[in-house]
Amino acid sequence: MLIVLKYGGNAMTAGAEDPVLDEIAALAQAGISVVLVHGGGPQIDAALRAQGIPEERVEGLRVTSAAARDIVEAVLCGSVNKDLVRGLLTRGARAFGISGQDGALLEVRRMQIAGHDLGYVGEPAKVDAVLLRGLLGLGLLPVIAPMGIERREGVALNLNADTVAGAIAAALRADAYVVLTNVAGVRRDRDDPATVIPRLTIAEAQNFLVDGTFSDGMRPKMRAAIEAVAGGAQRAVIGAAARDGIAGALAGAGTELVRL
Ligand SMILES: Nc1ncnc2c1ncn2[C@@H]1O[C@H](COP(=O)(O)OP(=O)(O)OP(=O)(O)O)[C@@H](O)[C@H]1O
Ligand SMILES: [Mg+2]
Repeated sequence: MLIVLKYGGNAMTAGAEDPVLDEIAALAQAGISVVLVHGGGPQIDAALRAQGIPEERVEGLRVTSAAARDIVEAVLCGSVNKDLVRGLLTRGARAFGISGQDGALLEVRRMQIAGHDLGYVGEPAKVDAVLLRGLLGLGLLPVIAPMGIERREGVALNLNADTVAGAIAAALRADAYVVLTNVAGVRRDRDDPATVIPRLTIAEAQNFLVDGTFSDGMRPKMRAAIEAVAGGAQRAVIGAAARDGIAGALAGAGTELVRL
């Protein structure tokens, strides 16, 4: 059993007592392979604000100048990644923190969106699944910060964490791709929690991307879930970290995306 978990920066609000980390450690101890990919949006926003760098997004993706990229790297690969690694080690899981750059785990290319210069933003080109399986085979729990290496220019690029997690879930053909965020599933009306959609096919999700039902961070999140399921993950589930946790999300508390 192999689970790829995306833990959103927006959802990491529980601090040291985080029950999601308890769940991850318990899964690892039960012999389930877990790969954790984390976000860090609010943490990056705070660091950029402190440097006076304004926030700008296109399609839910952060426009990233060279200066912003260096801050993103420090926050994601440094503090956020290492907080999670320490939290998991404390709970008895052998967490191993890396970014997509390390060992060229994640080769990326510059992302293009017509009419916009996103700067140092990447999209996955190649995931080294053998490297990840090797780490899992050593009994390690990979904790992955969503940056990648562009080999031609030799630069680090910032990626949306959902995009990275979805590509990894597909490359590993995960039994489950679990996305924990700050909303309990995907809503027809983003402002109305009563409109959570329990089950979506890939075709339905694609329609909701076109008609704008999914906005902001939900757009890359759903694109990544589609990518994961279309690319070989058995299923994708999206739930709230605080309310559902991993077990709740797997049991159908939020939104499940299926192939058909
Ligand atoms: N249809 C929708 N249903 C639910 N949430 C939606 C919808 N459309 C947009 N959203 C927004 O998407 C947000 C979740 O994405 P967001 O990128 O903010 O969080 P995250 O991915 O968990 O964190 P991070 O980006 O830091 O890793 C929700 O909080 C909500 O505001
Ligand atoms: Mg996000």
